[in-house]
Amino acid sequence: MGQAKINIAIDGYSSCGKGTLAKALASALNYVFIDSGAMYRAVTLYLMRHGVDLDDLPQVEQALTHVKVAFEMDDSGVSFVTLNDENVENEIRSIAVASKVSEVAKIQAVRDKLVYLQQQMGAKKGVVMDGRDIGTVVFPDAELKIFMTASVEVRAQRRFAELVAKGDVVTFEEISENLKHRDNVDSSRENSPLTMTADYRVLDNSDMDRDAQFALAMAWADEAIAANLQF
Ligand code: CDP
Repeated sequence: MGQAKINIAIDGYSSCGKGTLAKALASALNYVFIDSGAMYRAVTLYLMRHGVDLDDLPQVEQALTHVKVAFEMDDSGVSFVTLNDENVENEIRSIAVASKVSEVAKIQAVRDKLVYLQQQMGAKKGVVMDGRDIGTVVFPDAELKIFMTASVEVRAQRRFAELVAKGDVVTFEEISENLKHRDNVDSSRENSPLTMTADYRVLDNSDMDRDAQFALAMAWADEAIAANLQF
């Protein structure tokens, strides 16, 4: 007897650990993890490489017809994002891409293309997806919606440490300014802004370690799966 799968939407501000939590939940539940932000980053990389003018909508729309974004898995089962079949997982995490991605994510034609793909990925349920509009636009009927947040200092510190460990040359100031900028653009844009509705569970992990945040979210997931069985 198989258990009915649910979809889990995790939305929230930049760098608050959505990906870490989403991956841990997906692995514990044997669900598929999808990083929707990686898809916006991959499109951004394509537009940057081809020098597309973001204010020229027909040019952007034309470029989008040449963009194929997908996920693949390496031999050890770790997924990575591809742009026209090239593994771009590393390049999309650069500060150069981060500094443009929120401008790209404002464009409705970009969102339409990616939301369509994301909805297809979740059509059969069993998906944990993180982003900004997953519980509001992509899967409005997700059985569990989590809104993650943490103080800007904690988030900037985490992202700074992550990039330095990778060998990137960045300053703390630069990272902190980028996060604030993206939070601002993502929350105030006209198309699918980052917002929280009453059906979200809020998880503020400023003072929580990974284990504690996982335990809390897993309890919510168990509850949502049990509730889903009753129907
Ligand atoms: O890793 P981080 O939290 O910094 O960001 P991300 O999840 O990789 O997303 C990068 C950017 O893509 C965000 O700042 C948003 O501008 C955009 N995005 C979006 O608009 N909608 C989503 N569902 C996911 C990301």
